[in-house]
Amino acid sequence: MRIRVDAERLRRDFDALAAIGGTPAEGVERIALTPAHLEARAWFLHRAADAGLETSVDAAGNHSAILRGAPGAQTLLLGSHLDTVPNGGRYDGALGVVAALEVLRAVREARLELPVTLEAIDFTDEEGALVGLLGSFAVAGTLDARMLAAPRGGREALVAGLARAGLDEARLADARRDPGSLMGYLELHIEQGPVLEQGGFQIGVVAAIVGSRSFELAFDGTAAHAGTTPMHARRDAGLGAATYVERVYETVTGEFGGCVATVGRIELEPGAFNVVPGRARVSLEFRAGSNDELERLERRLLDEAGAVAREHSLGLDVRPVGRWQPTPLDATVRVAIAGAAGRLGLSTLELPSGAGHDAQALAQVTPSGVIFVPSTGGLSHQPGEHTPWDDCVNGANVLLHAALELALR
Ligand code: HGY
Ligand code: MN
Ligand code: MN
Repeated sequence: MRIRVDAERLRRDFDALAAIGGTPAEGVERIALTPAHLEARAWFLHRAADAGLETSVDAAGNHSAILRGAPGAQTLLLGSHLDTVPNGGRYDGALGVVAALEVLRAVREARLELPVTLEAIDFTDEEGALVGLLGSFAVAGTLDARMLAAPRGGREALVAGLARAGLDEARLADARRDPGSLMGYLELHIEQGPVLEQGGFQIGVVAAIVGSRSFELAFDGTAAHAGTTPMHARRDAGLGAATYVERVYETVTGEFGGCVATVGRIELEPGAFNVVPGRARVSLEFRAGSNDELERLERRLLDEAGAVAREHSLGLDVRPVGRWQPTPLDATVRVAIAGAAGRLGLSTLELPSGAGHDAQALAQVTPSGVIFVPSTGGLSHQPGEHTPWDDCVNGANVLLHAALELALR
């Protein structure tokens, strides 16, 4: 079929969205359920309504534009997320949402009568500033109480965010969809790595998404006077945290090829020049392609935390705050993506995703797939995140044609 997305309109949407929560150097910051994020979601619904599409917001705050098929038809979800990391880029998540909206407009304008309902969906808190895949877990029916009781972003941030968005924690799970009502899920996303660009490929067909686990560690020492406490007499929690960061790097690079681990945040308390830190709160996140590797990584990295605590006579508290399964993506959907790209004359490469995605949650209940477009220099999660606009348009057209192939099969 000759149908294509309207590249100019897509660009106008993309630029308008990037201005919401825009930061210097062309970055974007729309932390989940903060005012900037809520403004972007409202903008999305207005654009959908302007296009004559039905809109809806579910009990988990997922925002949707809907192009109805025949009564009782299954729904093909196309989406991603409008929330970002702190000082993030303008493409991560946003490209997938504006492209999904554009696909619904293109289908509607072409007056295609599809045997499915098409739904462009923006999932709540993909990035885990609160829980991580909060909205997509809710749709999949896999959001469990433990995730909400000890969320990665802390209870305070979660409660405040839900209140700002007018969401009732007790009803989040009501967003669950009957898997029988879903035909599948497709997501367009930037690769956030260097593989496609370095290989000169236009489209990535994601074979699987890595799993990851997050822990909040606290090393407890003794707060003391920085001037009167001799170096040998200290129980310095900051020294313990610094030692641990290096131990994590050595362990993963030495024993777990192909896996990654990150300490993205260290908070020293009380955080003053003239006080030896009594407590160091450390975020630990690690990722691997299999549960076996995740289990071994968890054991080794938490053992090392214990060893560092003993070496520095510190207390240690460990709290699990997030768990995302390694997820293979559906073969039929992967074939549809590769077929759509081929028909559009685009080169493709099948590859794993080192980044997490909402497709990880949806894949538990419905055939799911992810389309990648190249990231300039492999950069992401920072203002320098960039994808050439032609690649964005290619990705949107692959999303359109893969959706049509799945809908009409
Ligand atoms: O962290 C991730 O991999 C994704 O960007 N949420
Ligand atoms: Mn993302
Ligand atoms: Mn991200």
